[in-house]
Amino acid sequence: MSVETKLKDVTVSTFLKKKEKNEKITMLTAYDYSTAKYFDEAGVDSILIGDSLGMVVLGYESTHHVTMTDMKIFTSAVARGAKRCMVVADMPFMSYHLSIEEAVKNAGELIRAGASAVKLEGATDFILSVVKRCVESGIPVVGHLGFTPQYLNVLGGYKIQGKSAENTKFILKQAKKLQEAGAFAVVLEMVPEESAKLITEKLNIPTIGIGAGRYTDGQVLVADDILGKFSDFKPKFARRYADLKTTISNAASEYISDVASGSFPSESEVFHLSEEELNALKEM
Ligand code: KIV
Repeated sequence: MSVETKLKDVTVSTFLKKKEKNEKITMLTAYDYSTAKYFDEAGVDSILIGDSLGMVVLGYESTHHVTMTDMKIFTSAVARGAKRCMVVADMPFMSYHLSIEEAVKNAGELIRAGASAVKLEGATDFILSVVKRCVESGIPVVGHLGFTPQYLNVLGGYKIQGKSAENTKFILKQAKKLQEAGAFAVVLEMVPEESAKLITEKLNIPTIGIGAGRYTDGQVLVADDILGKFSDFKPKFARRYADLKTTISNAASEYISDVASGSFPSESEVFHLSEEELNALKEM
């Protein structure tokens, strides 16, 4: 499962420099080798192996079912495809909550699987200690605030966070604590753009928004949403750049009808015996 560890072109300092220079950071999720390769070749700054794979790849209803084993498999596939961009792996539910030692060990396993950094949700005192210990151990950390899918049951559903001045101040406080603990970036999910703008302006580390408006330092979207592959629901903030669902469905229908009609395989798609072997067969 291990991949060759090579420093990618895009590093923690690239993220920080981009914020300083007011250049937008681009991040997309990917879960497999080929998609990672194409996104990397297209020039994305970072690929996130999001635990959204629980829904879009594995068909679960939430991210809660994703395990460390899942994350290591998908992380190593992506890391083999991504040659230059930064690879960030999500720490799955319950992989960083039980003890600091176990959290750091699990984060280390994702680095060994090929990630250059890990992402984790929330900013409780315990999570802040985990962030600090990971960074002290050489593991760069991205925070994740606002709507945090692993807290779905506590938040009571897919709800926009930071809708009041008080809640915005709370998220800002959490973001500052993550920055102090050593996180090098923070994802802000589903917060009003005014709140995300304020938080972005008050931080030295970059914010990466998803459903957080236009003023964050970068944007992240889920691959299956931008490619139009996942069709169970479409978040308001996800822009669709392709329609893979239709492409895949049409390809499967055409294949089925070609096999049924006998037009597949055709002459150009078969192997032949040589004349000599064919004659030898006839003699049998
Ligand atoms: O799991 C994921 O894909 C994420 C993004 C939504 C940021 O955390």
